[in-house]
Amino acid sequence: MSIEQTLTDQERLAELDLDQLRQLVGLVEYDAGSDPFPVTGWDAVVWAVGNATQAALFYQLVYGMELVAYSGPETGNRDHHAYVLRSGAVRFVLKGGVDPASPLLEHHRRHGDGIVDIALEVPDVDRCVDHARRQGAVVLEEPHDVTDEHGTVRVAAIGTYGDTRHSLVDRSRYAGPYLPGYVARTSVAGERRLFQALDHVVGNVELGRMDEWVGFYTRVMGFTNMAEFVGDDIATEYSALMSKVVASGNHRVKFPLNEPAVAKKRSQIDEYLQFYGGPGAQHLALATNDILRSVDLLRARGVEFLATPDSYYTDPALRARIGDVRVPIEELQARGILVDRDEDGYLLQIFTKPVGDRPTVFFELIERHGSLGFGKGNFQALFEAIEREQAKRGNF
Ligand SMILES: [Fe+2]
Repeated sequence: MSIEQTLTDQERLAELDLDQLRQLVGLVEYDAGSDPFPVTGWDAVVWAVGNATQAALFYQLVYGMELVAYSGPETGNRDHHAYVLRSGAVRFVLKGGVDPASPLLEHHRRHGDGIVDIALEVPDVDRCVDHARRQGAVVLEEPHDVTDEHGTVRVAAIGTYGDTRHSLVDRSRYAGPYLPGYVARTSVAGERRLFQALDHVVGNVELGRMDEWVGFYTRVMGFTNMAEFVGDDIATEYSALMSKVVASGNHRVKFPLNEPAVAKKRSQIDEYLQFYGGPGAQHLALATNDILRSVDLLRARGVEFLATPDSYYTDPALRARIGDVRVPIEELQARGILVDRDEDGYLLQIFTKPVGDRPTVFFELIERHGSLGFGKGNFQALFEAIEREQAKRGNF
């Protein structure tokens, strides 16, 4: 029985330890031996953006990420620019088309800035692809080796919702800065590390297809259902979405999946599907061990967060629900940070406005204290708070 309890290279590089990861992202021990599709963790979030050269600066200067690798015309890649950025154990790859015929430009025309690939690190690419194929997955790239002077990476890719893919990457025999074809690049100066790890990536899928995609992750990728879900009881009244969560065995990789629900108002998921032009990744939750500092720094650099009405904090039910948290509630209120609690502990969270021009992809910052949830309690609390504000204005 192999109980997995090791750090990924990225986590080691980020000087994280297992205790921190249990706290940050709810890492759990599990038996990888009986997993048909073992996943070590996140490899990278790959974006197609309208201007990767500028976006790379944005993520360095505003989000405090570090540039570590680059590929582009100067390195023999005539199709696109690609900038690899890191914050803690999180890796973003920003790609923008150079050649007018680049498929990245077509992707961007259809979807706007968005996530093309949620790449996962796996110990055995071939075993994963064999299993996925037997379970009916679309194999977009067969397992193959890519080699340069730093070693060999074995990769493959399978399709998931919309135009999104999961690359499967085994980099255990590779020592380069990212992948063959990339060269090391150093970063401009700036304050670093506003977040340490990726907690979850939310997918918005088509109306009525959430359970199908939950089935995809459990059947094809061996993920398990996490307890939290938002059903049509809350959904139709408040949040206009239904949501279930699947997770890899060790819980490093967690995918909440949303579908729109018929509600009082037009669903935010409907809006996403319209403007993204179909299903896609909706938000990335970035785990931080000091959400107050991260929010203060991001706000000072111009990042806009969703506003939380004061009535969310003055509601006596909220105080009863959340109990004691590590800072006075006024500190959270001053920043618009939300709190949720379950039987395991609590979490602090806040959401940014969309990062691109379309009302599609955005970020969440999350600071976990024992809770393995995703903020379900905030759906209802937030919507009720908004309705109380509406009522004050005589519009409810
Ligand atoms: Fe989230």
